[in-house]
Amino acid sequence: MTLSRKTPRASRPRVLVVDDAEGIRTYLANLLELKGYDVDTAEDGRRALALLEGGAGPDVIILDVMMPGIDGVETLRRIRKIDEDVPVVMLSVVGKASTIVEAMRIGAADYLNKPFEESELEATLEKVLEKKELLQERDRLATGLIPSSASVVWASDAMRRVRDLLEQVADTNVTVLIQGESGVGKEIVARTAHDLSPRRAEPFVKVNCAALPADLLESELFGYEKGAFTGATGRKYGKFELANKGTIFLDEIGEMSLLLQAKLLQVLQDSEFTRLGGNKDIRVDVRIICATNRRLVEMVEEGGFREDLYFRLNVVGVQIPPLRERREELPALIDTFLHRFAARYDKRVPILSERLTEAIERYSFPGNVRELENMMKRVVVLESEEAILSEIIHVDRSERRSGDAMRALLEEIEETAGEVPLREVGRRAAQEAEREAIEHVLHHTNWNRKQAARLLGVSYKTLLHKIRDCGLEPF
Ligand SMILES: Nc1ncnc2c1ncn2[C@@H]1O[C@H](COP(=O)(O)OP(=O)(O)OP(=O)(O)O)[C@@H](O)[C@H]1O
Ligand SMILES: [Mg+2]
Repeated sequence: MTLSRKTPRASRPRVLVVDDAEGIRTYLANLLELKGYDVDTAEDGRRALALLEGGAGPDVIILDVMMPGIDGVETLRRIRKIDEDVPVVMLSVVGKASTIVEAMRIGAADYLNKPFEESELEATLEKVLEKKELLQERDRLATGLIPSSASVVWASDAMRRVRDLLEQVADTNVTVLIQGESGVGKEIVARTAHDLSPRRAEPFVKVNCAALPADLLESELFGYEKGAFTGATGRKYGKFELANKGTIFLDEIGEMSLLLQAKLLQVLQDSEFTRLGGNKDIRVDVRIICATNRRLVEMVEEGGFREDLYFRLNVVGVQIPPLRERREELPALIDTFLHRFAARYDKRVPILSERLTEAIERYSFPGNVRELENMMKRVVVLESEEAILSEIIHVDRSERRSGDAMRALLEEIEETAGEVPLREVGRRAAQEAEREAIEHVLHHTNWNRKQAARLLGVSYKTLLHKIRDCGLEPF
């Protein structure tokens, strides 16, 4: 999900005032224009409905309860058929409680009793508009690309234990801290925790703490008021507010600055916060799930992560092992991915060759499940295994080679009782790095040596020498 700053409202909010008393219409129109609204007026329900049918599209409607012809409640009922969402504020007089109850039941946003104070009117309009924006923002989030937990594969004991744990804490609001290497499936585990909980119908809001500098992250989390800083031209809701009643997923929590960690801890302890530049205390009911690929315990020891916050977040800790430690999942994962991508790209489901299956079984998957997923996508889309095979073999080889070179050097140091001069160590390390760079570029250019020489900034002849010296050959 992208974390873009919300663009301020492009134009002034539009109000439709519906009242049969001309004096009230004029009074409200003048007052509201002064307060920064654009105003349309209608003298009865019929006219209001005609305006809406004609595409007037107000941001909010002020609707008198007592009008000749179609009364306020009936008008509201018909408005709802044209526009399900536009907030409607009913204008009533004292003693009309049952009508107001009825209006609220069929979807009025709020009501005001005549006579009302200017400040009352303003506060009510602001409140309903704020709620409308909040709901719109939540809708936008809900339709964003959030992974579903429906197709998660749980095919190893380790992952089944993770799932059992999630089920055990599903009905509670405890904070969950998910740790594991990049690509192991932390986000889908977080999503599963949400989908298993009673909050599943409410928003799951993700915030990537590594994606933004500290001050932007703060406003992303807690929002800001108009004028909170230069450039804050409108109000912005923080992700905590947008996640109300649901779950907030703080991804890459290890990247959060110490200053913001302190603020987050404070918010967790007080269960309330204010928007930047605001003074209203905001309370939300949000479940927190965090994830990181850093080792938080070590970060705590080194002073990069607050210990108190660590304990506050790590109520339930989930450690997801890397894919190379749960290889028994490979067949199920491969099968899921091949079927998924074949369906998505309208291709047939390929049957993997024995050669590729064996290569995969030996491969270490430094990029974990994400890497496997991408591989399977390419096999489906390219309808060929060649690219994947050569890549796996290439990574395997260079892993083994650089491992071998280092081991040989260490053995030699040992054998000669440490008599290998430092200069020699440096020379060999440089040679090894050079060999790796050349091999990488040759792989990239498909062993087109002319192109590789250009990329490496050496002459064609030099490259040929080096290829020979390093003992490189195409596979
Ligand atoms: N058990 C699984 N079943 C099906 N798909 C999985 C599984 N685990 C991971 N994936 C897929 O692998 C990809 C990586 O998973 P995810 O984004 O959850 O990893 P991550 O640990 O959050 O990675 P990063 O640290 O890079 O953010 C996703 O596309 C996800 O759908
Ligand atoms: Mg992730």
